[in-house]
Amino acid sequence: MATVQMKVHPDDLLQVPQANERIPNPGVLVIFGASGDLTKRKLLPALYHLQQGGLLPQNFAIVGVARRPLGDEFAKDMREGIIEFGGVEASDPKLDDFVKHINYYPLSFDDANGYAGLKSELDRIAKENGIGNDRLFYLATAPEYFAPIIENLGAQGMNEVDNGRIGVVIEKPFGHDLDSARELNHQVNSVFHENQVFRIDHYLGKETVQNILVFRFANGIFEPIWNRNYIDHVQITAAESIGIEGRGPFYEKAGALRDIIQNHMMELLSFVAMEPPSSFDAEAVRREKVKAWQAIPSIPILNAVRGQYGPGMVDGKKVIGYRDEERVDPESGTETFAAVRLEIENWRWAGVPFYLRAGKRMKKRATEITIQFKQPPLLIFNRMQSSGPCTEIQPNLITIRIQPDDGIALRFGAKVPNTPGMAVCPVNMDFDYAQAFGQSRANGYERLLLDAMLGDQTLFSHRDGVEVNWALYTPILQAWARKKPEVFPNYFAGTWGPECADRLLERDGRTWRNNLGKPE
Ligand code: BG6
Repeated sequence: MATVQMKVHPDDLLQVPQANERIPNPGVLVIFGASGDLTKRKLLPALYHLQQGGLLPQNFAIVGVARRPLGDEFAKDMREGIIEFGGVEASDPKLDDFVKHINYYPLSFDDANGYAGLKSELDRIAKENGIGNDRLFYLATAPEYFAPIIENLGAQGMNEVDNGRIGVVIEKPFGHDLDSARELNHQVNSVFHENQVFRIDHYLGKETVQNILVFRFANGIFEPIWNRNYIDHVQITAAESIGIEGRGPFYEKAGALRDIIQNHMMELLSFVAMEPPSSFDAEAVRREKVKAWQAIPSIPILNAVRGQYGPGMVDGKKVIGYRDEERVDPESGTETFAAVRLEIENWRWAGVPFYLRAGKRMKKRATEITIQFKQPPLLIFNRMQSSGPCTEIQPNLITIRIQPDDGIALRFGAKVPNTPGMAVCPVNMDFDYAQAFGQSRANGYERLLLDAMLGDQTLFSHRDGVEVNWALYTPILQAWARKKPEVFPNYFAGTWGPECADRLLERDGRTWRNNLGKPE
């Protein structure tokens, strides 16, 4: 298939804002669960890059909090993390300056008495560094500690100040079903106002995810066709080639529906499906997202399928099956793949199916959204291509590649030159983010951390959104928990998932698009 690359002209690039120019007030970022992987791999590298980009205030402090008495070891370890995961040279002299902002405070999260000490330590660090009352608490702990930390912060009066901004960032998973999410929302909101709460979904920090909104709402040509009159269906795939990466105990309790579909994929869906917000501010954007989710009727159990990978080949290497992974039940019923078919009952989308699938150990890593358009009302060229490379006219597609090779492709039919008659072949116009703007190094956390420090909730989940999504998926999770799947494993590692997922679309006369990635 022929592909035309879209390039950005250098003159146009000059008009692109190079960075978000807002800078937060001096403040203290307190990371609970700081000895975990997330802090070292994502948060600290992101903070370092923010500082280098001139996006952090001169005076700021990072305080890692975890149980072990790490002392100065913590800052050293974070330095290593920035080098290893942030792509920074070990000899970079700016690193030493950055590391001076890192502190550590040992605390057992459920030790109520320890929080008074934390409070005075934060006040001391703030005073020493010329920082006012701004505090951002980042909860990167195991989920069972979210509630005790929040309660203890509240008990010490660390949830509000007269002169400054206090926020709390909460990592996923936000609950494990509707009841637990409601309870957690209740606990959070009994200490913090909703406008202080930042429920993180790192997909919203991805440039390409934010670009869905720009694609739809900064261009006049797509919106008129973005509806049931022109769109046949939408497919969203989040395929990972990796397995569970040693996270057996976590994944056994999670599974693909909880881990990816209920949150990351529903965020993607909302950006594709929402109505245009009246402005790009938190309330307007989040209101439209919630409205789109609320229009989804409950998903019949027959429209949800699950799978688990057995051994197979991924990228030319043999890999073990899920049940053989470390600390996984050898008879586990946990799904490593899930797919659903849902509809959105509103004027824009009535009758347009959305198919979502997510899986581990699939053929390749690719997160993509495909909008498939309806065929023209009369296929006048069809009968003219009974032979040759293109025997059937293909529908138009807009493909949004979230990762890797971030970009957007538009597929349309073109006349094959130098052939008798009117042979039509699909061709692609392809916009490649890296080619147009240069490689982005951001891991999503930069944007989200900065927004949280600035108090901008646009790219964070609202309590209503979290609950609507849990309400949608809890009945499926419950039904699956009641009935263990009979034939697990049901797909080989290195494939596109189980047959039942194919049947989900075949019933509607459709197929999954499996040639994902950049068009050839
Ligand atoms: C996390 C899940 O939220 O997202 C992981 O817990 C998954 O299981 C990861 O691998 C995928 O994120 P990304 O950014 O690599 O697509």
